[in-house]
Amino acid sequence: MRIASVSLIALAAVLASCTAAKNGAEKAIDDAPAVSQVLLTPDAKDIHSYANPAEARVTHVAIDLTTDFAAHILSGNATLDVAAAATAKQIILDTRDLTVTAVTDAAGKPLPFTLGAADPIHGAPLTVTLGAARKIRIAYSTSPKADALQWLTPAQTAGKKLPYLFSQGEAILNRSWIPTQDSPGIRQTWEAKITVPEGLTAVMSGEAKSALGEAAPNKMRSFSYVMDKPVAPYLIALAVGDLRFQATGPRTGIWTEPSMLEKSAKEFGELEKFVDAAESLYGPYRWGRYDLLVLPPSFPFGGMENPRLTFATPTAIAGDGSLVSLIAHELAHSWSGNLVTNATWNDFWLNEGFTSYFENRIMEKIYGPKRAAMEADLSWSDMQAAIKEAGGPASKDTQLRLDLPANRSPDDGMTQIAYDKGATFLRTIEAAVGRAKWDAYLRAYFDRHAFQPQTTAGFLKDLRENLIKGDTALEAKIGIDQWAYQPGIPANAVHVTSDAFPAIDAAAKAFAAGGPVAAVPGNVTTQETMRFITQLPRTLPAERIKALDDRFAWSDTGNSEIRFVWLQLVLPNRYARGEKSAEQFLLAQGRRKFVAPLFTTLMGDGAHGQALAKRIYGEARAGYHPVTSGTVDKILGWKTAQ
Ligand code: BES
Ligand code: ZN
Repeated sequence: MRIASVSLIALAAVLASCTAAKNGAEKAIDDAPAVSQVLLTPDAKDIHSYANPAEARVTHVAIDLTTDFAAHILSGNATLDVAAAATAKQIILDTRDLTVTAVTDAAGKPLPFTLGAADPIHGAPLTVTLGAARKIRIAYSTSPKADALQWLTPAQTAGKKLPYLFSQGEAILNRSWIPTQDSPGIRQTWEAKITVPEGLTAVMSGEAKSALGEAAPNKMRSFSYVMDKPVAPYLIALAVGDLRFQATGPRTGIWTEPSMLEKSAKEFGELEKFVDAAESLYGPYRWGRYDLLVLPPSFPFGGMENPRLTFATPTAIAGDGSLVSLIAHELAHSWSGNLVTNATWNDFWLNEGFTSYFENRIMEKIYGPKRAAMEADLSWSDMQAAIKEAGGPASKDTQLRLDLPANRSPDDGMTQIAYDKGATFLRTIEAAVGRAKWDAYLRAYFDRHAFQPQTTAGFLKDLRENLIKGDTALEAKIGIDQWAYQPGIPANAVHVTSDAFPAIDAAAKAFAAGGPVAAVPGNVTTQETMRFITQLPRTLPAERIKALDDRFAWSDTGNSEIRFVWLQLVLPNRYARGEKSAEQFLLAQGRRKFVAPLFTTLMGDGAHGQALAKRIYGEARAGYHPVTSGTVDKILGWKTAQ
């Protein structure tokens, strides 16, 4: 059964306001529309935004922007609908490196505004005196160094002929191209008109109003998009390039550059099946279409769950579909993240932990329990590694609910802990109550909180009310407060083990003990190969590494995940062919998850590694998105003037 989403939003809003009236925990602003509730409980306060939602908040954003590929600037205006009490004096918006030239009301009458001092993490507050205005228009342009945006030269694209632009909003980057209240708890509907040079296509995380664009002056074309469901502002996304589309089913398809279309469609051709599987688990897909945009290799993430249009790295194309869990993951965010959204970045685990759990359930549904168990078991190892990296199980950075200080970028708190410990928590609940009960709960949970922000405390309250229901023995058995608020991994953690791994572990042990390379199992899955490599001792004699590489050619593999774990093993062993491979890999793609740890490894290898890191970065840096270069700058102590 498919439920019309509009009535669902309305229903959710009504339910939410009933609850609010009952317990007083949430309150709506006087004349704010019933949709898109803002949580005003203390734990929902977002320290990473200047917004004052209790006084005035944005409910709708309309942007009209023109791309300047020569200057790397977007310019135009943003018209914001504001919900505010009659007594409200001002609205505060988030901006970063924007040049604001005018602020007016809907009739064009200037409104007083001030752009405050810029903070290195949060950007600058834009305060607008409202008077009677409930619609404000901001004329502005972006900086060429806008954090959210990467402007690619033709050489950095697959086609090599036309330039490319894409945005990445999460966590607090969208304020560098859209002046709005950039807080995940302040949901906004939006519309956009993007004017680009002829020959380029603009795609966005909304519904296209003119698929082919409309002619505009000066050999430009305008593309219009709308999102009529309230979303967190980090989910507004744009890409402009030489883009083509291929359908993979009635409501799914792939956007990418022409030369990437066939490869992408082959690798991700089963999109439609993914959506069906996800719906069968946790209820209707509420966003209409589900398309995938395969970006150029500098895309800084594996994937980004932009509504209706997941952005994905081409490094997930292994040729054999072995890395498609990435699609399961981004699709799962259509429920956990986009429908029910972390209220603040301290609750990031609600997005990523739920999604990692859901991802694995989709994988199990489509590819079976063997594949799912291998991936879950690898995630368990990742969790152990993340705990070590965070400073051990006593470190506060290993908590699910974070307590980020204002002077720390939310980016810093976003580690694998949220993903793997979060998923393990949900698996532990599943095991305690049984899958049938848990699935029914989770499905209803998404319905209850659809199109609303959620805090960690809010989730625990919902769990107590709708799953635990006063069963004190059950509550003690799970230990939900410990899971959510304490560091480390509780003793009751459910570890899903793969029955394929003991043989792999034994093979790694035998090889490490000097066994012949011929005894290493060949022709195994990507997940088994990754397990094998990560199980090897970190120090290996040169000829042993060479023996493996001669047989498996992992230094040359096009499977990015295998290449990455291989390089992490061989670089500290100063394996020359690995160093060449690393250089090539670091120049060919800019995915932060690969790039940052590899540079960290090189920097940890004395003068030799450091010299290599500096040389490679000197060449690679210009090709990276600001998200990646920002992180690597810190790893290398790189000064921009360098
Ligand atoms: N939402 C994240 C990407 C993200 C996280 C962007 C934090 C900005 C800040 C996305 O869903 C994600 O988790 N991507 C993963 C891939 C996934 C398969 C685990 C990635 O990029 O590696
Ligand atoms: Zn995610």
